[in-house]
Amino acid sequence: MKVLVVGSGGREHALCWALAASPLLTKLWCAPGNAGIAEVAECIPLGAEEVAALVGFARGSRVDLVVVGPEAPLTLGLADACAAAGLRCFGPSAAAAMLEGSKTFTKQVADAARAPTAAWERFTDAAAARAYVRAQGAPIVVKADGLAAGKGVVVAESVAEAEAALAEIMESRVHGEAGASVVIEECLLGQEVSFFALCDGDTALPLGAAQDHKRVGDGDTGPNTGGMGAYSPPPVFTQALQDQVMAEIIQPCLAEMARRGTPFRGVLFAGLMLTATGPKLIEFNVRFGDPECQALMVRLKSDLLPALVAACDGKLREVTLAWEALHSLVVVMAANGYPGAYAKGSEIRGLERAAQVPGVQVFHAGTQRREDGTLVATGGRVLGITATGATLQQARAAAYQAVDAVDWPGGFCRRDIAHRALG
Ligand code: AMP
Ligand code: GLY
Repeated sequence: MKVLVVGSGGREHALCWALAASPLLTKLWCAPGNAGIAEVAECIPLGAEEVAALVGFARGSRVDLVVVGPEAPLTLGLADACAAAGLRCFGPSAAAAMLEGSKTFTKQVADAARAPTAAWERFTDAAAARAYVRAQGAPIVVKADGLAAGKGVVVAESVAEAEAALAEIMESRVHGEAGASVVIEECLLGQEVSFFALCDGDTALPLGAAQDHKRVGDGDTGPNTGGMGAYSPPPVFTQALQDQVMAEIIQPCLAEMARRGTPFRGVLFAGLMLTATGPKLIEFNVRFGDPECQALMVRLKSDLLPALVAACDGKLREVTLAWEALHSLVVVMAANGYPGAYAKGSEIRGLERAAQVPGVQVFHAGTQRREDGTLVATGGRVLGITATGATLQQARAAAYQAVDAVDWPGGFCRRDIAHRALG
């Protein structure tokens, strides 16, 4: 099979790496890819959001499967455009991708499916929103309704902080039109887990869970990022909890999407809070998490390619997935300054030595190979040093041994990935 992966991050490198191992694969392209992806796929110079050009390429090259990494092309209708062109695409339609594009939509689906989630209200009027916050008290969560590059959420510890967030989102419109309406939610307490399920519109197949580290600094301090590290499986997320999440959240929401005429095909990423009264849905994403995907892919024993094809073809019921009895852990190395302003072009050395540590895979995110062969950083999150081990401790030791082999003065990482599980 000929496959085109869309995206350029560590998630897409992990997907390409897993697909490249498939005996069914005959050709792998990635658009636009990065220097690491170029080692397992042919990178083509098309942006992930160039929907028409991507479809044109896929048709011209007789691609059998398009695998979409990030959410932006999905919300722009890449899966719909593929369907119209007769191309198989792993990823939801624009209508189903609303599960990530609109927080109100997600809450409505969850409520209709009776899936446990935080109590919520939506406001388009700032004065009414302020009055609600004062009546509810703190802690309370304020969210811009639309896509805000992962930055539109404020978990406010005080009413004053919530009011300041409302002023920024609704009045100053710091996230643009995403702030035309806000969702105000009950603050959930507990451990957060990222849970993934392959979906074919009808059937959902659990892929398991990972725990991310959103803050930039050790001990969960500093500003939010796209994710600084992950590990899988999270010890707190038992099989019983997974069964409960499948039965109470994933399957009912999938059924509700089908009932609405917008069946969900692709990977459904449920952000969960494990509260004292059971797992509750924080949000859905319509794609793999980054870096959670890296942590999952190195544990997957089965061939990824036929599973993705089955999700597209409505045949997931016929699929069972096998997993290695291993723990995995990803340490993200980011450019100094991230998630604020950071320099591009700093040179990275030592990746060959890092990759020699047993059990380690080095996934690239923001990297580029210069003509002279040097590897340079071109993004905020740059590398995902991923390791497996018989125990989580062993996976962590291997990952940091590999991190220490990387010679990159322009970058940094957190030193405490998996601290919630390991202390
Ligand atoms: P989101 O952009 O929806 O992923 O939210 C960003 C982060 O805010 C989540 O990963 C949670 O850590 C936190 N968060 C969102 N909603 C809630 C909530 N209702 N209660 C507590 N924390 C929340
Ligand atoms: N790591 C969280 C995300 O991909 O949204």
